[in-house]
Amino acid sequence: MFPSTSPVATKAWQALQKHADEMKKVQMRALFMEDQERFKTFSLQLEDTLFDYSKNLITEDTRALLLSLADESGVNAAIKAMFGAEKINFTENRAVLHTALRNFSGKPVMLDGRDVMPDVLGVLNKMDHICRQVHSGEWKGYTGKPIRYIVNIGIGGSDLGPVMVTEALKPYWKPGIQPHFVSNVDGTHIVETLKQVTPDETLFLIASKTFTTQETMTNAHTARNWFLEHAQDEKFVAKHFVALSTNEKAVTAFGIDPNNMFEFWDWVGGRYSLWSAIGLSIALTIGYENFTALLNGAHAADNHFTQTPLDRNIPAVMALVGLWNGNFLGANTEAILPYDQYMHRFAAYFQQGNMESNGKHVDRNGAPVQYETGPIVWGEPGTNGQHAFYQLIHQGTRLIPCDFIAPAISHNPIGDHHVKLLSNFFAQTEALMNGKTEAEVLAELQKANTSEEEIKRVLPYKVFTGNRPSNSFLLKQITPRSLGMLIAFYEHKIFVQGVIWNIYSFDQWGVELGKQLAGKILPELQNEDYIANHDASTNGLINAFKAYRK
Ligand code: F6P
Repeated sequence: MFPSTSPVATKAWQALQKHADEMKKVQMRALFMEDQERFKTFSLQLEDTLFDYSKNLITEDTRALLLSLADESGVNAAIKAMFGAEKINFTENRAVLHTALRNFSGKPVMLDGRDVMPDVLGVLNKMDHICRQVHSGEWKGYTGKPIRYIVNIGIGGSDLGPVMVTEALKPYWKPGIQPHFVSNVDGTHIVETLKQVTPDETLFLIASKTFTTQETMTNAHTARNWFLEHAQDEKFVAKHFVALSTNEKAVTAFGIDPNNMFEFWDWVGGRYSLWSAIGLSIALTIGYENFTALLNGAHAADNHFTQTPLDRNIPAVMALVGLWNGNFLGANTEAILPYDQYMHRFAAYFQQGNMESNGKHVDRNGAPVQYETGPIVWGEPGTNGQHAFYQLIHQGTRLIPCDFIAPAISHNPIGDHHVKLLSNFFAQTEALMNGKTEAEVLAELQKANTSEEEIKRVLPYKVFTGNRPSNSFLLKQITPRSLGMLIAFYEHKIFVQGVIWNIYSFDQWGVELGKQLAGKILPELQNEDYIANHDASTNGLINAFKAYRK
């Protein structure tokens, strides 16, 4: 195991605090002017993915101190522990081995004295097989027609990854296959989806690690009832329902033949499960070869992560820079801003990935932390974000580090759209870093022959302080491989930060309380009684709800 050291007790943390006081007086634009090599010094590349972190308020001293922090926190030992199948998910007593799902090294991954790879490869083969059957038309629905619609029913990690990846890789969709995703227990979601599919041409994938999640089970039963209303015979369920789960007993109880179950294991966290059987909707949509290309991209990132010294290790540097902005410069949030329309769910995906992993306030010794942990993660694709919330990023009072992501080559090279898009990508990072000084605003206004009086009136509002940090990911193109790599970088960033914050990143107890209370409230909504056993607000709301429905 790696040490459970409080980061604030390290020498590096204290040195970083002092260093931050100095750095807060520094302007990033001055750092760029002083050092023509800054881009080279603070950028990294793996294959066709370039990671530029030079537009952060850092120097080589900052980086050295952050690396000492990683060192004192045992990051290298933690990486070994995770890949070595130690039970680093302590509160659930589980190993964390999503990396085994994309392990194409041919090497075994030993867990409790047993190699997990034969099971992993067995499920991959089974996924390959069903993809071939569906795509060739050999898998037929109950009227003899081939499958045209895939409906994945899942939520959280059993939904967000498949949605994000299928959307990001739309140019790779198999002709004739249309995926749909149902997650919300709001009946609208399933009702609106069922309007778009036909029962005899639809394959439902019930995606749930536990196979107990209320939202998913409710939607799955509704889908099954709808299907049976049309098919009229239980024996047809086998042709139209498969399960992606770890829970064979619950799958069988639901009425899905275990032969139609695609298994994964408790050492795959829900929010890290798109690489597992949970990715079946991805494989069916983009084809098994593209799915394995995605896995291979992630595997390349895993190799980079495990084999590269931390100073040149992309996920480690992402983690350290994020920590610097959050713990030392005071940022509470991070924006993820893809300049690629197909990547429109990327921020939402890592909202769960990051916030469910590192939204913790108790450390690995069971004590409350004395420092900030996981940031609030959010974002939208550029340039839409520019016309919505960038104002606050540029001129607001809060520090919002941004990750800009863009491909150099568009899948839709129409007219000058892509160079226009990318001109915005480059301009935004430059503007955030440089800002615009009073002198520059003045010169601009004078050049436009603005009157003295008008200059006095508007000048302060047109000044940009700059010094606002961003990272840029420039990819050659969004492909299954480059996307797999990018996702794995973010996963490992989250892991490294969790190690340094001395928290457990792979459990999610915080989602339990709400679930428990909802379970208690549900029967109260199903009777006529006046409710008085909660606090006044909750009672008031429940009774008003019931009154509206009388
Ligand atoms: O939101 C809590 C959570 O447990 C997530 O971690 C998980 O991704 C999601 O619910 C879905 O869980 P399951 O796959 O078991 O249905």
